[in-house]
Amino acid sequence: MNTPIIALDFNRYEEVENFLKQFDEKLYVKVGMELYMLEGHNVIKEIRAMGHDLFLDLKLHDIPNTVSRTMAGLGRLDVQMVNVHARGGSEMMRRANESFKEYNPDGICIAVTELTSTNEHMVEHELQSKLSLRDSVLNLAQLTYDAGLDGVVSSPLESQMLHEKIGPDFLTITPGIRLKESQTDDQVRIVTPDEARRLGSNYIVVGRPITQSDNPVESYHKIKAMWEGK
Ligand code: C5P
Repeated sequence: MNTPIIALDFNRYEEVENFLKQFDEKLYVKVGMELYMLEGHNVIKEIRAMGHDLFLDLKLHDIPNTVSRTMAGLGRLDVQMVNVHARGGSEMMRRANESFKEYNPDGICIAVTELTSTNEHMVEHELQSKLSLRDSVLNLAQLTYDAGLDGVVSSPLESQMLHEKIGPDFLTITPGIRLKESQTDDQVRIVTPDEARRLGSNYIVVGRPITQSDNPVESYHKIKAMWEGK
């Protein structure tokens, strides 16, 4: 069972350090654009030196050559998971995946399909897409699979559909997790960790229910136990 990935949505390294020092076990953490842009890759090196696994959530989207060269650098940084926007197209995704794995053969490279902030109105009127939002997610996920990547970020509610339509080994990495259905923050569609497991998520990403908790270590263990079905 993959351990829950903790989203470190802080903007200073000091906060990350204070948060991580409460734990005396190996964690899997996610660093996003905000922290990476403000603290540079020193934060990555520090977290890796502490022994934690790391998902670097930068959602790269540029011409294939630029993304490929950037991914080679991230492969050398020794992070476990990276991602790109599937809208960058199949050549960008294929080259990103190959360059990352040249340096990090066991690493995982995934794609973002449609952001959860994208709605039907935007798809139809702004992006002028012929596809509905659901079909666009499916199309981009298929493109991701065909380009050789390992999986996509999705809602836990889409995991089953993606496994059925694309393949059982195609990974779904799912945010939108809460301990109780009532605790939504700004997430629209949420599920509990045990529901996510039943729905077929391969990894869960959990931020505020752990980082904003009065007792982050206790909340992490509660979420981990539910996820593992204990
Ligand atoms: O605090 P919370 O558990 O909502 O954090 C979830 C994490 O997953 C955040 O880092 C958020 O940016 C990320 N995420 C998300 N929904 C997506 C993609 C990423 O919540 N569709």
